[in-house]
Amino acid sequence: MEASEEMSVRVAIIGASGYTGGELLRILAVHREVEVAAATSREYAGKPITHVHPHLRAIYKGMRFIEVDLDKITKADAVFLSLPAGVSINYVPKLLESGLKVIDLGPDYRLKNPEDYARWYGFEHPHPDLLEKAVYGMPELYRSEIARAKLIASPGCNSTAAILSLIPAIREGLIDLDHIAIDVKVGSSEAGRKPAPGTHHPERENVIRPYEASGHRHVAEVEQELSKLAGKSLKIAFVPHAVGSIRGALATSHTWLLEGVDEKKIIKAYALIYGKEPFIRIVRGPPVGYPDPKYVIGSNFADVGFAYDGRVGRAAFMAAIDNLMKGAAGQAVQSFNIMMGFDEREGLTYPPLKPA
Ligand SMILES: NC(=O)c1ccc[n+]([C@@H]2O[C@H](COP(=O)([O-])OP(=O)(O)OC[C@H]3O[C@@H](n4cnc5c(N)ncnc54)[C@H](OP(=O)(O)O)[C@@H]3O)[C@@H](O)[C@H]2O)c1
Repeated sequence: MEASEEMSVRVAIIGASGYTGGELLRILAVHREVEVAAATSREYAGKPITHVHPHLRAIYKGMRFIEVDLDKITKADAVFLSLPAGVSINYVPKLLESGLKVIDLGPDYRLKNPEDYARWYGFEHPHPDLLEKAVYGMPELYRSEIARAKLIASPGCNSTAAILSLIPAIREGLIDLDHIAIDVKVGSSEAGRKPAPGTHHPERENVIRPYEASGHRHVAEVEQELSKLAGKSLKIAFVPHAVGSIRGALATSHTWLLEGVDEKKIIKAYALIYGKEPFIRIVRGPPVGYPDPKYVIGSNFADVGFAYDGRVGRAAFMAAIDNLMKGAAGQAVQSFNIMMGFDEREGLTYPPLKPA
């Protein structure tokens, strides 16, 4: 069903008790075209959603979690899946068959090559045909494909920051494509709401800790998307770091500049690629500073910028996001808006918080 002025689009969220599910509930609470019709949690089924999300009290009055019941969920018009890797994979075909628009925030449909799932995620993909149909949900790369899509594979948070940091440099041919090293720092909410050794707050507070420093799963989608942009297969070094903040991700992409590329050319590339993007803000270095997740928290903005180091012929390209917003729920709603023909910014116009 397409949206009309009289009728809201009915949206379901599978995995609504988690962090990205909660963030979807927060965004959709003020979305003028949408009614949240169902929110699932196996653990909290039957309980008010404010039991898990007390910050949403007085907003979702009386609404309760339901079990994952596809017969109920398929009564909606669109569905967001906020589930661990490997869980949405078998829900998606039925949801699509029932005519719903599907936005998956997990990794199950992000990679195009089915063999990459065995390699990076340790399972055989049971629906390789759908990998071709899924659109990688990054509006800055695929706005027109998203508008026609039925299945959106929304990018990961580390990958969003990494890819956004490098789109201008790669598209405008500024860097040596054989030597790219991306460093990402990310807050604890990226690991979801269930504590695990290493992500549990007392273990994570105050850390600046590299993890999965060679072979993090997100490198698969980063290489996939940046290779497409580059027009050749890229191999990229990628090192994420857990930091003590709750929200926020910063990608710093270290690159070597091609002969003749100076600061002016880089500034021109940013203006050309990102000048009209509604959720990208170009930060021009000193005295304003570099992209800093602190100044995007709570919003769907990505702040991007670079440090040019002519002395060594290098540039570090940066992107700062709120991992739960532009890195997850915000970007997913941005894609949903494009898919449904709504204003891309609907529900996403919160300015960032300060102090945060
Ligand atoms: N956190 C981030 O910054 C971020 C950013 C981008 C993408 N993502 C991706 O988004 C997805 C969700 O992440 P999250 O951080 O929101 O995780 P989370 O906080 O752990 O939430 C997971 C949700 O899935 C439900 N769930 C778990 N196993 C399930 C199963 N087998 N069947 C049905 N429901 C199940 C959980 O509720 P019940 O167990 O009660 O059912 C919960 O509502 C992940 O794939 C993640 O990689 C996360």
